Amino acid sequence: MQTLQKKLQDLAAKAILAACGESIIPEITTSSHAHYQCNDALKLAKAAKCNPRELAQKIIDHLDSEAIEKLEIAGPGFINIILSPGFLSEELIKQMGDPRFGAPEIKSQRIIVEFSSPNIAKELHVGHLRSTIIGDALARLFEFLGHDVLRLNHVGDWGTQFGMLICYMKENASDVLSGTRNAELFQLMEWYKASKKRFDEDPDFKSRAQKEVVALQGGDLESISAWEAICDISRQAFEEIYGLLDVKLTMRGESFYNPYLADTVSDLKSKGMVTVSDGAKCIFLDGFKGQDGNPFPMIIQKSDGGFNYSTTDMAAMKHRVHEEKADRIIVVTDNGQKLHFQMIEAAAKKAGFLKDQFEHVTFGVVLSASGKKFKTREGETEKLIDLLNTAVQKAEEIFQERLPDLDSDERHQMAKILGIDAVKYADLSCLRTKDYTFSYDRMLKFEGNTAAFLLYAYVRIQGIKRRINKDITPKIALKHPSEISLGLHIRRFGETLETMSRELLPNRLTDYLYELSEKFHAFFRDCHVEGTPEESERLALSELTGQVLSAGLNILGLKTLDKM
Ligand code: ARG
Repeated sequence: MQTLQKKLQDLAAKAILAACGESIIPEITTSSHAHYQCNDALKLAKAAKCNPRELAQKIIDHLDSEAIEKLEIAGPGFINIILSPGFLSEELIKQMGDPRFGAPEIKSQRIIVEFSSPNIAKELHVGHLRSTIIGDALARLFEFLGHDVLRLNHVGDWGTQFGMLICYMKENASDVLSGTRNAELFQLMEWYKASKKRFDEDPDFKSRAQKEVVALQGGDLESISAWEAICDISRQAFEEIYGLLDVKLTMRGESFYNPYLADTVSDLKSKGMVTVSDGAKCIFLDGFKGQDGNPFPMIIQKSDGGFNYSTTDMAAMKHRVHEEKADRIIVVTDNGQKLHFQMIEAAAKKAGFLKDQFEHVTFGVVLSASGKKFKTREGETEKLIDLLNTAVQKAEEIFQERLPDLDSDERHQMAKILGIDAVKYADLSCLRTKDYTFSYDRMLKFEGNTAAFLLYAYVRIQGIKRRINKDITPKIALKHPSEISLGLHIRRFGETLETMSRELLPNRLTDYLYELSEKFHAFFRDCHVEGTPEESERLALSELTGQVLSAGLNILGLKTLDKM
C-alpha cells in the first residue's frame, strides 16, 4: 500500500503546481498539532519574495480531496492537514486485507547484512550480542519488505593465531584434533591462552607455530583438518546462542576470502594505490591523518608477506560488489571499528569498485548499572550465554508470581520468550550509536518502553477477541478521538518501516510500537467494545492493532505470548 505521506505528497504537489507553477516534491511531515503538515509554502514564498501565509492559502485553495477534513495555516506558513475519519476508516479496511499490513511496495534489492561475526576460539561477548540483535532486526525488516537478503556471519576464523593454537593442540590435545575426543569452547579458550604464553616464552615453539601458519595457508591437509576441528568446536557454541536468540546466519568467515587476497593486493597495486613503507604495503588516503598530523596508512600486506584484517575486508567488499552484486552492503559492528571501515570504504571507492552501496551500522558499548563496561563479578567480560540464561531465569520468577498455576514446562517456555524478548527489546529501543546500560530489572518491567509492556498489549487484544468470540468482519468506522488517533497511528506502520530501512535505526520501530500500545490502551479506556453498537467495528480495530503489533515485534525478532 502507498503510505499516507506519499498520498499527501502527490496531492500537495498538484496543488503547489496549480497555485504557483512550481513542480516540486513537497515536504510532508507528521505534526503534533494535526495529522500531517506541509512545509513548502515558507521556502517557495522566500524564493518568490511573497507572503508565505498568502501562498499557503493559495495552496490550500487548490488542495481539494475527500481524504482531507480540514486544512489550516499555522505559524509563519505551515499547512496543517487533518484527514477525514471516513477516509482513514477506508484506509484501515484496506490495510486489514493487506498481507503486508500496509507496508509500501518496494523495488526489490539485493541486500547483504553482515552481523554478529565473533571470533573462533574466543567466547561471544555482549558486544557481539548487540551486533547479533541489531543485525537480525535489520535483516528481518528487509525480508519483510520483500528484499533479497543475504545474512553473513563474518567470523574471525583465519590468521596467525591458528598456528599457535594448532601447534599447541597437536602436543596437548591431539585426540581432539583427530575427533576422538569432544571439547568445548571454554577448553579451546584455555588452550588458546596457553599457546600464546608458549609462543611468547619459547622460541622453539614460536618457530614451529610460524611454520604451522605457513602450512595452513598453503593448504596442508593435516593443518586444514586441525583448523576445521577447532572451528567446529567454536561453531557449536555459537549455534547454541543463535538457537536461543532464534537468529539465522550464513557462516562466511574471513577464511573464505583467503583465495582472493593476493589478487586484491595486486589489483590495488596496478591502480597505483600502494606505497611501500618500512617493508609493508600501505594505502594512503586523503583525509586520514594520525594524531601527529602525519598521513595514516592502511596496511594491506605486512613486511613478512602476510595479509591482515584490512586485506580481508577489501577482498570481502570487492566480492560483495562483483560476485554477490549487492545493492546495499551493511556491516554491523561497534563504534570502535568506525575508522577502519571509513578507510575500507574510501579505498574501495578510490579503487573504483564501490559506489555508495556501503553502510556501516555502528553501536555503543554495553554498560553495567555502575556506568562501567559490562563485566561479571569475577571481573571477566560477561559470557553471552550466561547473560541470556539469567534473563530467562528472571522471567521465570516473574511468571511464578503472576501466574502461579502454570505447569513448569509451560512456564519455562513462556519465560524463554519473555526473557529473550526483554534482552532484545532493551537493546533495540535505545539509539544504537549511544552506549547502553544493561539492567535486568528495567528490561523486565511491565510498565514503560519495554518488551513486557508491548507483549501485554498484545495479550489484552487476544483476551478481548476470546471474550467476544465472534467472527471479525473488515468493518471499521472511526469516531471517537482516541479511535482516530489509534487508527491514524496504525496506518503509519508503513512509513515507520520506510524510515527504519532508510536510517537503519531499530528504535524508530520500537518507538512506533510503544506508541501503538499506549494508543491502544487509551482507546480501550475511552471506547467500550463488548456489547456496544460499535462492537464489530471496534473489534476489527483491535484485531488490526494486534496484527500490526505482532508484525512489528516479529521484525524486531520478538515473539508474542497469549497470556501473561
Ligand atoms: N570479528 C570481528 C570482531 O569480533 C568483527 C568483524 C566485523 N566485520 C568485518 N567485516 N570486519 O571484532
